[in-house]
Amino acid sequence: GGAANALKRDIEAAIADRERALKRGAAQPAGVDLTMPARAEWRGGLHLVTQVVDEICEIFHELGFTRAVGPEAETERYNFYALNFPKDHPALDAQDSFHLGGDVVLRTHTSPVQIRTLETYPPPVRVVIPGRCYRRDPFDASHSPVFEQIEGLAVDDRLTFVDLKATLSTFARRFFSSDTVVRFRPSYFPFTEPSAEMDVRCQICRGSGCPSCKQTGWMEILGSGMVHPAVLENCGVDSEKYTGFAWGMGPERIAMTRHGIPDIRLFSESDVRFLAHFATPIR
Ligand code: DAH
Repeated sequence: GGAANALKRDIEAAIADRERALKRGAAQPAGVDLTMPARAEWRGGLHLVTQVVDEICEIFHELGFTRAVGPEAETERYNFYALNFPKDHPALDAQDSFHLGGDVVLRTHTSPVQIRTLETYPPPVRVVIPGRCYRRDPFDASHSPVFEQIEGLAVDDRLTFVDLKATLSTFARRFFSSDTVVRFRPSYFPFTEPSAEMDVRCQICRGSGCPSCKQTGWMEILGSGMVHPAVLENCGVDSEKYTGFAWGMGPERIAMTRHGIPDIRLFSESDVRFLAHFATPIR
């Protein structure tokens, strides 16, 4: 007890000494002005593509979709064959992919996660799947070998093309503006039948024609369709009982459309002026 008390007195005395010294300004080394304001803190922010992905997923969340993810390295079965690509289908050449050896590729789209989801969760299912994809594409103003996609999938009884159109046009109006005009054009994908691409009125010229929309007045923002019965059956889902719709969209393209960004390379060049222009503080 005596020793502890002595120690306590020593510590109290040392603290008092130090306090007096600090008050005299003895802590200030010569040539340093401690009253100078500090430099502004450097803060990180979310990349524009991350912001757009989060915002899109949030809109679909409000519409009843849950976020899901899948691997970036996929087998050819998930990336192509379970999605109803025939072995000799020309899309296999068009989707020129990076092979990692064996039957493993870097996924060329997020559609393989449709298969993984349906294999794991019985319908009803409503998911949005953001993720990075890879293609042997040139690196130019409108292509990048690495890019983001957001896949969507809804499987339930009695889903029809009307649900697809209503869901996707509601998305476009919430994301762009409430008066956004959309159109659906017939298209083809092996994993959907029928298939359609959705365009929105060009956000830059409002439809009158400009270089960004190649004078058409429209910007294509996604591919979609009713899930092909063969895809459902490949996942063990009864295609007599269930139907579904799906879509895939490119958040970079959508961000470019909304913000009038002319070149996709800006997203990955890490130019601080570009990044800071769109960065929002992390909440
Ligand atoms: N996977 C297609 C692509 O990368 C996009 C797509 C089209 C996804 C239609 C879908 C869909 O789910 O239904 O080009």
